[in-house]
Amino acid sequence: MLKGKQILLIVGGGIAAYKALDLVRRLRERGAGVLGVMTPAARQFITPLSLASLTGGKVHEELFSLTDEAEMGHIELSRAADLVVVAPATADLIAKAANGLANDLASTLLLATDKKVLMAPAMNLRMWLHPATCRNVETLTQDGVLFVGPGEGEMACGEFGPGRLSEPLDIVAAIETALRKDTRIPLPQGSLFGKRVVVTSGPTHEPIDPVRYIANRSSGRQGHAIARAASAAGAQVVLVSGPVAIVDPPGVDTRHVETAREMLAEVEAAMPADIFIAAAAVADWRTEAAGASKMKKGAAGAPDLRLVENPDILAAIGRRTAERPRIVVGFAAETDDLLANARAKLARKACDLIVANDVGEGTGVMGGLRNQVHLVDAVGTESWPSLDKEEVARRIVARLAALIGEQSSGGPRS
Ligand code: CTP
Repeated sequence: MLKGKQILLIVGGGIAAYKALDLVRRLRERGAGVLGVMTPAARQFITPLSLASLTGGKVHEELFSLTDEAEMGHIELSRAADLVVVAPATADLIAKAANGLANDLASTLLLATDKKVLMAPAMNLRMWLHPATCRNVETLTQDGVLFVGPGEGEMACGEFGPGRLSEPLDIVAAIETALRKDTRIPLPQGSLFGKRVVVTSGPTHEPIDPVRYIANRSSGRQGHAIARAASAAGAQVVLVSGPVAIVDPPGVDTRHVETAREMLAEVEAAMPADIFIAAAAVADWRTEAAGASKMKKGAAGAPDLRLVENPDILAAIGRRTAERPRIVVGFAAETDDLLANARAKLARKACDLIVANDVGEGTGVMGGLRNQVHLVDAVGTESWPSLDKEEVARRIVARLAALIGEQSSGGPRS
């Protein structure tokens, strides 16, 4: 399965760099070609000559190299491969990639590539566990970067814990999986150019008193990924987000809200739009009257919380008679009778499309990285395999771009 594949291998500077040489050997044994790139720090651990002998080709090291640019520009280099692998991925390389820096060859290639990137981190365990590295890994994961490892064990520095580079054969297995699961659908560039898209995402928090609130497990990953994908397809995107722990998508006008009523107000303020996508897990109920001071325990016993229903944002937009977006998309988070409930929601909330997902216990969808969805519209149902949320987002956006294109050209609805 690796036969004929081209791997661009970026070797970072770490004590584990020697294992990258073994990785090259394993890849070539399986028929893959390897293009080698080394950071200046990697030279402290292995030599360009040893990497070149194993890859059987030139090793690229510098961003501004006249000979390299004459042979193959770095943009071309970043796209010539089927997969980009970073091993070892140091804390520094991860931080650069997470922040979009491009001040040396390795970081420039990571920013310029249009291929999947697989990182095999290796570093001291305190560096791996540092909040900055955790944040960077989270950002890269949201950007669709894949990770293998790090493994746990005794480290070169004598400490014990996570941070060891995965074994070369485990990295080979991750490479095979990454290539096999190459389900990415390229977003038609500019397919939503000139279109305005409004997306809701995350949970809402409904206050009980100044310190307590009603919430749910939504992480906002799916909604944020949709906003990011729509923006990448050229749309002007407004994201109305409940409280989440993830970063605002770059280039997206993100408006932060707490409650369902605030979310509705921001969505209405963001209208008119061409497409509305309600991915938020809006709390169905709020307390009738949130207390102005903290509730205290007392002789009266547990408080009697009276709940009232929140406005339904999706239904409010779907049922608009004036300025209704051309496409209104809802989600249906269900634990039972998934498709029947999704179809009922399609009608009740006057949507054009419902993305239904099973959020039952054990599915790991709420708060997780993957999602398995079914698309329900007036015509029928289409089920997608389990995909990472970024890919689900890309596919949804590609579908909406096609739909809006057909509507504009008066073509048929599929
Ligand atoms: N939704 C909304 N406003 C609400 C409740 C839900 O906009 N007050 C939207 C969600 O963003 C989602 C869709 O409606 O797109 C369905 O949400 P879901 O929680 O699955 O449905 P509910 O309306 O809560 O219905 P039920 O209680 O029957 O599950």
